[in-house]
Amino acid sequence: MKRKRILSGMRPTGKLHLGNLHGALNNWVDLQNDESNECFYFVADWHALTSDYKDTSEISENTRDMVIDWLSAGLDPSRSTLFLQSGVKEHSELFLILSMITPLAWLERNPTYKEMREELSDRDLSTAGFLGYPVLQAADIIMYKAYGVPVGVDQLPHLELAREIARRFNFLYREIFPEPKPLLTGVPKLLGIDGRKMSKSYENSIYLRDRGEVLSQKVLSMFTDPQRKSKIDPGRPHLCNVFSFHGIYTPAEDVARIEEDCKKAAVGCVQCKKMLYRNIAERMAPLHEKQDYYMNNLDEIRHVLADGTSRAREIARITMDEVREAVRLYRIDDR
Ligand code: TRP
Ligand code: SF4
Repeated sequence: MKRKRILSGMRPTGKLHLGNLHGALNNWVDLQNDESNECFYFVADWHALTSDYKDTSEISENTRDMVIDWLSAGLDPSRSTLFLQSGVKEHSELFLILSMITPLAWLERNPTYKEMREELSDRDLSTAGFLGYPVLQAADIIMYKAYGVPVGVDQLPHLELAREIARRFNFLYREIFPEPKPLLTGVPKLLGIDGRKMSKSYENSIYLRDRGEVLSQKVLSMFTDPQRKSKIDPGRPHLCNVFSFHGIYTPAEDVARIEEDCKKAAVGCVQCKKMLYRNIAERMAPLHEKQDYYMNNLDEIRHVLADGTSRAREIARITMDEVREAVRLYRIDDR
C-alpha cells in the first residue's frame, strides 16, 4: 500500500497550551493513527531563530519540552517520524537553492510577513532570514514530497507560496516536486482565560503542564458571559468560553444540563467552573503521568529525536541528489 505522506512542524515555543492541543496536536495524532498516512512531524528550530535570534537561550529547552508534550499527547515515534529541523542539514541546502529562484516580490507581499513584523514590533525583523521564512518552510515541506500539510488558516499564505515555489522549480529544472495540499485544522474554539485568542504572549493560556492549584486558579479566573453579573442573572452559555470548554471536557448529558441551568440561573459560574476544573484534571491525568515519566527520562527524548532525525535525513539525502542533478551542478563524485 502506498501511504500518503503527511508533514508538519511547530516552532519550539516551549510548553504547549490547550489551544495547541485541540487546534493542532490532536489532529496530528489522528492523522498518525490513520494507517493510510505516513507522518513526519518536526521541531522548526531554525524558524524559531528568525524571530528570536537575539535571545536564543530558551530554544533548546523549549525543544525538549515541546517534544515531551507531543509524546504525552499521543504522538508515537514508532509510527511517526519525529525530527529536529536543524539536524537535517539538507533543509538548508534546499533553502539556498529555492532562494535563488524565489522572486523577492512573492516574499514581500506575503501577508503573514507584514502582520508578524507589525505584531513583533519590539524586534528588528528586517533580516534576510525573516524575509526568507516561507522559503525555508517550502524547503521543509517539499524535501519530503509531502502530500498533505496539516496547518491552521494563518499558515495558508505560506502553503500557497510553497506550492508556487515547487511549481517554479519543476518548471525551471525538472518535475521533482508534487504540490503540497493544506489539510486545514478546524478553527480553535477555545479562547484564553481572558477571552482573547489563547496565546503564550498574552499570558492567558492553560498549559498542558498546568495541574492542581495552578490549573484550578486559571479555570476559576476564566471570563464568562459578560452580561451575567450575578448568580441570579440568567446566563448565555453560547457566549461563554467556559461553556466551550465544557463542550470538550464534559460528558454530553452534563453539558445539556449545564446549558439549561445556566439559562435559568440555576447554576452559578463558580460551581460551573469547579465542575469544569474537575473534568479537565481527570481527562489530563494520563497525559500528566506521561509528562512526569519523560521529565524523569530525558534521555528518551534525545533518542526519539536522534532516531527520527536520522530517518528524515535518509529521505532528504535522496531528494537532494535528485535536486543537484536537476539543477545540473558539476559532480565531483561520480556515483
Ligand atoms: N510556520 C509554521 C508555524 O509557525 C511552522 C513550520 C515551519 C511549518 N515549517 C513548516 C509548518 C512546514 C508546516 C510545514 O506554525
Ligand atoms: Fe458560563 Fe457556566 Fe457561568 Fe453559564 S454558568 S455563564 S456556562 S460559567
